[in-house]
Amino acid sequence: MRILITAGPTREPIDPVRYLSNRSSGKMGYALATVARERGHDVILISGPVSLHPPDRVEVVNVETAQEMYDAVGEAIGACEAAIFCAAVADYRVVDTAISKIKKSSGELTLTLTANPDILGSCREKFGFAGVLVGFAAETEELLAHARAKLERKGCDLLVANDVGRKDIGFDQSHNEVTLLFRSGESRWIPLESKEKIAGEILAEVERLQAPGERG
Ligand code: PMT
Repeated sequence: MRILITAGPTREPIDPVRYLSNRSSGKMGYALATVARERGHDVILISGPVSLHPPDRVEVVNVETAQEMYDAVGEAIGACEAAIFCAAVADYRVVDTAISKIKKSSGELTLTLTANPDILGSCREKFGFAGVLVGFAAETEELLAHARAKLERKGCDLLVANDVGRKDIGFDQSHNEVTLLFRSGESRWIPLESKEKIAGEILAEVERLQAPGERG
């Protein structure tokens, strides 16, 4: 199967030397890409800026901003049977990026932000994607309720709920603990494991969901 995977953070420029971003290291998305390749899949990894080595035999498209990630996904997703959205995409970008470095002054500095495109949320209607669609939800409260709402709103078959309020899992850790929520209403908890092991569990579900009749 050809699988598209997004990974890492996005960076939204403020001026030529500063940006808005988040704590994603790319480890979870790169683990998914590595394990998907090991399981015999053809992988395109659309990656925000990270300091990880690209996985062997995986096509990598490097992007910086959410808009660039949106464009790269829009171009690649039509040729894929499954897509897994693990990237921590910035929901907002600065409206007027300064063309030269903003000078320090004594008063307050106000940045005006505007919403970025919702890449995962564009897959079904805008990109016309009919394959297996997997989202992540990074939450710090009401994990399962918020994740279930994201699954419905974004048209996912599977949503990986990640409690990012915990220090031992999630952002920049080697391990994770997640709950898989399915469109059918079922769910499955995966206890603390390496990100590679978690990736294997997610990919096994993607392979199952790709079989005829499995997605209802
Ligand atoms: O990279 P690591 O350090 O290994 O950390 C892994 C992780 C914590 C980043 C990962 O496990 C995770 O939870 N990824 C989702 C992060 C996130 O931004 O979640 P969200 O709840 O804000 O977004 C929901 C879903 O919509 C995600 O699939 C996200 O990729 C997608 N999204 C969000 C906003 C946007 N503008 N476009 C999107 O496609």
